[in-house]
Amino acid sequence: MTTTEKIKEIKSRLGEDLLILAHHYQKDEIVALADFVGDSLKLAQYAEKNKRAKYIVFCGVHFMAETADMLTEDDQLVFLPAQSAGCPMADMADIAQAERAWEILTKEFDESIIPITYINSRADIKAFCGKHGGSSVTSGNAPKVMKWGFEQGKRILFLPDMHLGRNTAKEMGVPLENMASYDRIKGTVDYVCPKEDVKLILWNGYCHVHHAIKPEMVENARQLHPNAKIVVHPECPYEVTSISDGYGSTEYLINVVKNAPSGSEFVIGTEGNLVKRVARENPDKKVYILDNKSYCINMNKTTLENLLETLEEIEDGDFSRQITVSKSVTENALVALKNMLSL
Ligand code: 13P
Ligand code: SF4
Repeated sequence: MTTTEKIKEIKSRLGEDLLILAHHYQKDEIVALADFVGDSLKLAQYAEKNKRAKYIVFCGVHFMAETADMLTEDDQLVFLPAQSAGCPMADMADIAQAERAWEILTKEFDESIIPITYINSRADIKAFCGKHGGSSVTSGNAPKVMKWGFEQGKRILFLPDMHLGRNTAKEMGVPLENMASYDRIKGTVDYVCPKEDVKLILWNGYCHVHHAIKPEMVENARQLHPNAKIVVHPECPYEVTSISDGYGSTEYLINVVKNAPSGSEFVIGTEGNLVKRVARENPDKKVYILDNKSYCINMNKTTLENLLETLEEIEDGDFSRQITVSKSVTENALVALKNMLSL
């Protein structure tokens, strides 16, 4: 029996007790076995809604499994097949750095700051944001959450992804000169406008996969594919999003191609597994990848083998791949997550 067949057999034995979730960046063979596939926003919403499954196997990275654990009931257990699948961007903000930043920034800017964290962050960073009246955010709802943030306070601390923060605020009409940068290592804040005009403080974190996409790549793609629309993920630098034809979350990128007329051409700047799948699922259109080095090592750590091992362990009552977040962290992190999900 193949590994896929063994997985299918366990799936049918466990029935609705088991829910396999997968992010769009997962490999095809994993996506094919998932009960639900989505971007970070859809996956969080789906995990929150599902009250039935006892075992939720999250094919994604660590912060996603943590988020699912916090959004599900206490008796629903969440598992991560590839235990070392972290997110380097999430690791660019730790709680000690966030506490130090808060001290520095609240001293520097005496009026209220609302902390907003990308869902790609550790659970204790979400808790930090919840504790200070902030929210989490995903690439699928960033303008909505940022608007909410500006209604709550005078300025926003956006972490860890500077690019998502900058792109979203710029789209909402905040000039680049009214955005400050916070250096998490040096503990310094830089801005060019008068202090009272600073609207957004950007933490200096990024996703290495999207940060590596350069404006020259967009220019080259325009020469190579003059009839194509170039669409990118908002984790790309502003220099890239500002010269592209559109940008948005993973779901946006999928739908923009799906809803385009037959014969359309697209160049997509995001993780390769997704771009290749979009190309295959739209055979009547031409789809190219903007940077063929766009590859998330961590998303690719989930394999059929470690998925099968996880399921076999669950059947044996071995929960060693379970991801749990402590009650105290969950309590504050849920404030940030619920603020986001209620919008
Ligand atoms: P979205 O799922 O929000 O598009 O984010 C992409 C990503 O980098 C997930 O790690
Ligand atoms: Fe993290 Fe980027 Fe990989 Fe997403 S694609 S998990 S943000 S490193």
